[in-house]
Amino acid sequence: MPSLERVRTDRLLLRRPAEDDAPLVLTLLNDPDGVRHNPSDALHTLEEARDLVRRWQEQWDAGLGYWVVEQDGAGLGVCGVKAVRLADRPVWNLLYRLLPEAQGRGVAREAAAEAVRRAQEVDPGRPVVARVRPANTASARVAAAIGLERRPDLDVEGEDGADEVWATP
Ligand SMILES: CC(C)(COP(=O)(O)OP(=O)(O)OC[C@H]1O[C@@H](n2cnc3c(N)ncnc32)[C@H](O)[C@@H]1OP(=O)(O)O)[C@@H](O)C(=O)NCCC(=O)NCCS
Repeated sequence: MPSLERVRTDRLLLRRPAEDDAPLVLTLLNDPDGVRHNPSDALHTLEEARDLVRRWQEQWDAGLGYWVVEQDGAGLGVCGVKAVRLADRPVWNLLYRLLPEAQGRGVAREAAAEAVRRAQEVDPGRPVVARVRPANTASARVAAAIGLERRPDLDVEGEDGADEVWATP
């Protein structure tokens, strides 16, 4: 299988995070508006961002992990899947998070669709799930647009309250 550490879509480069992505990760997660729906994800220092990038790099041991999303050489955010357990089942957890200036032009949809495709290649037996906070309409719209289905039976309590679960059929 070709490396999944650098993948291109129509408009985007999706690549495994590197140490020097920590400032981008800090910008994403130190913005109160950006973490409005998931305040427990907030970061405050570059050191915290470096630690998170290191954890994201380790996820790649599963063959796939979160990518940095780039367009024309500029980092726009992060998107991808990581192998976790949900209610004791192995799943791919789908993440998407973009800088404010990158939102509203289908970037998350494009990157997340690619993540689902690749996750199903690497381990088709592992469903892809997105945990969405109930008021996060943009996030739910992305989940629906890439073919995930709402699964109230899988809903869980997250760090920031109830999470609505969407999953591959
Ligand atoms: C969720 C997020 C990644 C969506 O990215 P995006 O690239 O802007 O998404 P899209 O451009 O594909 O837009 C998705 C849909 O949401 C809609 N939308 C965008 N912002 C919205 C808002 N504030 N309220 C309601 N709908 C909104 C868009 O109109 C679009 O609708 P459509 O499906 O009818 O076309 C982005 O809003 C984000 O990074 N938010 C902050 C982090 C976050 O909450 N991540 C999700 C955690 S689960």
